[in-house]
Amino acid sequence: MTAAPAIPKGLEGVVAAETEMSFINGQKGILEYVGIPIGELSAHSNFEETVFLLWNRRLPSKAELDSFTRELRGQYDPPAAVMQRISELPKDAQPMHVLRTMISLLALYDTTPNANDVASAREKSLKILASAPAIVANFDRYRRGEAPIKPDDSLSFAENFLYMLNGKRPTATMARAFDVCMILHADHGLNNSTFTARVIISTLSDVYSALTGAVGSLRGPLHGGANEGVMDMLNAIPSVDAAEAFVMDKLVRKDRIMGFGHRVYKTKDPRATDLQSLAKQLAEDTGNTALYEKSHRIEQVMEREVGAKGIYPNVDFYSATTYHCIGLKLDLFTPMFAMSRLAGWSGHLLEQLSDNRLYRPTVRYVGPHNQPYTPMDQRS
Ligand code: SDX
Repeated sequence: MTAAPAIPKGLEGVVAAETEMSFINGQKGILEYVGIPIGELSAHSNFEETVFLLWNRRLPSKAELDSFTRELRGQYDPPAAVMQRISELPKDAQPMHVLRTMISLLALYDTTPNANDVASAREKSLKILASAPAIVANFDRYRRGEAPIKPDDSLSFAENFLYMLNGKRPTATMARAFDVCMILHADHGLNNSTFTARVIISTLSDVYSALTGAVGSLRGPLHGGANEGVMDMLNAIPSVDAAEAFVMDKLVRKDRIMGFGHRVYKTKDPRATDLQSLAKQLAEDTGNTALYEKSHRIEQVMEREVGAKGIYPNVDFYSATTYHCIGLKLDLFTPMFAMSRLAGWSGHLLEQLSDNRLYRPTVRYVGPHNQPYTPMDQRS
């Protein structure tokens, strides 16, 4: 009898959809959004323009960008009934659980929550993307005992988040750094959370359910949760000189080093390169050079020890230092990833809805057949 074909564990290498949004070449370390190299976008674009690019498959004209920006800013403020629920939450709730819950709650205040024609799905996606910063920032204010702050629609997406979080307008440097982080995290092919969103919407379920599921997936430490794991690791290393021994000890124990390795990239993630430059500059500006030096030392040790296995820094490795230097608490790192990736997840929902077929893979049954039903009094 011929052996059953091997199942690609974790669906590794399986092409499960087509997209016009991001292209990744894992061997060469290339990432493009609609054909534009990520380095060009992080250097010259902003998050609002990047969202337009992903959703419309082209860069906007000046008038189109102004119109889209106005549309986004018009949705910065979630319904009051949603925001007042924040003050009922446990102050020690984890921000990713809060974000997941509040996205789900938004559906209860939508008069047509299940409408998933492409136009309605776009409208709901924009509302969720635009209001996520107010939710995350004001939950952090609430747990610190600070009064909530309303969004300021004269500010960009990046400026508005930092303004609500800190109660004062960010410096141009910090706002630009955060804007670049949002660009870099916006989309990335069929990663686990994006696949989750596409699988859910493929049942013709609703946008809220699909994005709630995606947030749940991203929280995982093997996925978006790694940036918090990187910061935990950096905090556990007492000094730059201690970094090598720390990493070697983990490698000997076959522990995973958070922020390294990737299912697709077998060389340095191009986003890590951009984030490394940002982290280096911000660390110098904010007196956190030891944090950056620890990270750089870890990268050198990993290159020497496992570079040959294709294990290099991914997007999460230097984003940790960057977010820390911007002044974000550790447990807000993954919510930052989610706020940005709401753009990519939504773009994929729109792609799925425009040419949908229900995802339903098969499974190979390897259990027994023709078993008797044993009555309870005859069971051991
Ligand atoms: C993101 O998919 C995306 O695009 C995701 C993402 C996006 O933008 O959406 O890029 C964002 O999720 C980045 C990844 C963040 N996760 C981490 O940093 C967690 C640590 N990394 C891993 O656990 C791992 O690298 C994965 C999960 C990211 C990928 O793992 P794979 O492809 O399933 O590879 P594997 O677990 O089969 O590992 C292959 C080998 C193993 O060694 P052997 O058993 O063959 O000897 O590589 C080793 C692993 O032990 N390995 C690592 C390692 N990652 C893989 N060894 C040490 N440290 C690591 N980080």
